Amino acid sequence: MQIVIKKDPTAATALVARIISLEIRKNPSCVLGLATGRTMEALYEVLVGEHRDHGLDFSLCRTFNLDEYVGLPTHDGNSYRSYMNRHLFTRVNIDMRNTHVPDGVAADLEAECARYEALIKKYGGVDLQLLGLGRAGHIGFNEPLSALRSMTRVKALTPETIAQNSPLFGGAEMPRLAITMGVGTILEAKKLIMLVTGSEKAGILHKAVEGPITSMVTASALQLHPHCTVVVDEAAAASLEEKDYYRWIFDNDPEWEPFRR
Ligand code: GLP
Repeated sequence: MQIVIKKDPTAATALVARIISLEIRKNPSCVLGLATGRTMEALYEVLVGEHRDHGLDFSLCRTFNLDEYVGLPTHDGNSYRSYMNRHLFTRVNIDMRNTHVPDGVAADLEAECARYEALIKKYGGVDLQLLGLGRAGHIGFNEPLSALRSMTRVKALTPETIAQNSPLFGGAEMPRLAITMGVGTILEAKKLIMLVTGSEKAGILHKAVEGPITSMVTASALQLHPHCTVVVDEAAAASLEEKDYYRWIFDNDPEWEPFRR
C-alpha cells in the first residue's frame, strides 16, 4: 500500500484524476471500476474537464460500478446508475453499452449478482478500481462483518450508512439493501486507488490503513492488495501515525517522480 497526502481535497482529487487519465491513455480499452459518493463528484468533474480540454478518450473504456441500491430503477435520480450518467457517462465519449452498474430492480437479485461477477471476468477483470471510504469503514457497500473473500451479493445497510447517505435522498425513504461487489471482488482488481478527503474520515482512515485487517473495517482488507494507492488530503490524514514516512516515500520513490510536479 502507498499512502499519498496532498494539501487539500482539490490536490488529492487532481492526483487521482491524473492516475486514472494515465491508465486510460496507456491502455485505451482498460476496464475501470468506478465508485459513487460525494467525494467522487469532484473527481468526475476533473475527468470530464480532461476529456473536454485535453481529449481524454473514453470511447474504448469499459466500466463496472461497485454497487447499486436495491429497488431503485435506472431512472430514479437517487440510483447509482443515474448518478453515473449525470456526473460522468453523459459528459464524456464513453459508449453507454460499455458501462455496467448492478441492476437493483432485477427480479432475481442473486442471479443478477452472479451475472455481474461473470461479466467482470468475461472482460478480463478490472484493471484499475476506484474506491471511496464509507464512514463505517466500508468499501462499496461491504458493511462491517462482510467476509473478506465475499463476491458480489446483496447486503443490508447499517444504520450508520443509512445516516450517512439519507441526506442525499432529500427526505425520500432510502433503500435498506444494496447489491455490492464483495471485498473479494475488489481485491481481484489489478490495481486499486482509494480517494479519501475531509476530517470526518480521519478516524476511520487511520483504522483502515494503520489498524489490523478486520472484517469490522472492510477497507482494512486493502492492505492485502499488492498494488493499492490511497490518496488523502491533510484533513483526512490528521490521525495517521506515520505521515512523515508516507511523505518520504512520495518524495523519494522514483515511481512518483512524474506526479511530484
Ligand atoms: C457510499 C458508497 C461508497 C462510498 C461511500 C463514501 O456508501 N457505497 O462506495 O465510498 O458512500 O461516500 P462519500 O464520498 O459521500 O463520503
